[in-house]
Amino acid sequence: MNAPSKPLSSRHLAFNRHVAALPGYNAGMSLARARALSGHTDIARLGSNENPFGCSPKVMEALASAAFEPWRYADPACAELREVLGRHVGVDPAEIVCGNGSEEMIAAISRAFLTPGDSVVTVVPSFGLHEIEPLAVGASVIKIPMTADLGFDLPALEAALKKAPQIFFLSSPWNPVGPALNRADLDRLIAASQPSTLFVFDEAYFEFMAPGMPNGIEVLRAAAIPHVVLRSFSKAYGLAGLRVGYAVCSDTEIARVVAAAKTPFNVNAAAQIGAIAAIGDDAWMRNAVAAIRAERDRTRKALEGLGIRAAESHTNFLYFDCGTDASEVAKGLLQDGIIVKAWREKGYETFLRANAGRPAENDRLVASLKKHLTR
Ligand SMILES: Cc1ncc(COP(=O)(O)O)c(C=O)c1O
Repeated sequence: MNAPSKPLSSRHLAFNRHVAALPGYNAGMSLARARALSGHTDIARLGSNENPFGCSPKVMEALASAAFEPWRYADPACAELREVLGRHVGVDPAEIVCGNGSEEMIAAISRAFLTPGDSVVTVVPSFGLHEIEPLAVGASVIKIPMTADLGFDLPALEAALKKAPQIFFLSSPWNPVGPALNRADLDRLIAASQPSTLFVFDEAYFEFMAPGMPNGIEVLRAAAIPHVVLRSFSKAYGLAGLRVGYAVCSDTEIARVVAAAKTPFNVNAAAQIGAIAAIGDDAWMRNAVAAIRAERDRTRKALEGLGIRAAESHTNFLYFDCGTDASEVAKGLLQDGIIVKAWREKGYETFLRANAGRPAENDRLVASLKKHLTR
């Protein structure tokens, strides 16, 4: 296929070729588009791993309080939020950098540590930005496929780490598949990681893990390898629309350089206030997580009844092979007013990811899959 020709107005411009060649991010469908395409108004939004129960009422109170001053610039250093987070996760606030979502921290880390020609290791299927952000700065990305039983390929990951890539990006719990590394497996990867590799452990779904699974911040600190652990307010805390996440760095020098790579006023005033209020109401978050996990497991059983086997999940979603083009299945579900995410990475086009919604939404998902997959 020929590359599309540039429009007249940009014909004489030299784009950054790494950015111009980026694959698109496979974002979940918007509510407006889903309504327009399906004709339904009551849409079950199961495509973006959001919290179907909303967020803590304490967040809404904080945003309605006099403390929220949209006309002022927010603190570029997020000092108060970092203090609160430092106490919450047990580290020095100077080792934390806050981002406009943890996705911004993935971009900042890539910008801070990669130059053209560097190499990054991650997995496939992957969280898109673990590939897109390194590619944007000219790095090459080696992707280690999941095993046939939908798990991490530990020997292949160890072998790739021994080659000392500049960055290793791994989400655990793993988006889009669902499993998380147990302590022994995390220790194996830490042991294989070389001193010149930055080990980026993305724990966006940390709060959904079953009890007894390792806490990446604690394990990586004890291991004393250069690392960053990423956490997000978008999932368990239900603040996807506010955009706030954070990077817990293994030392203040890494934090300084990651902070230098972000935009100055990256975390807006609403996000800073909202995140502080959310942390202050952990009970709300724990209740929501328990309800989501229960719904996830109930949905898994119902899918099993249809002969669909989802991967192990320590997250708020299920990932499964439809055995047929998942984009077509997603289109069928959309006709029933349900948004899911069909996977587009090469080799995984038969996989669908659907997050746990409210009970009635999950029932709709199962009924619609029954209609579209088991005819
Ligand atoms: C593994 C992983 N990391 C990071 C993110 C980004 O989260 P946010 O930018 O909303 O904090 C996501 C979002 O889906 C994710 O799945």
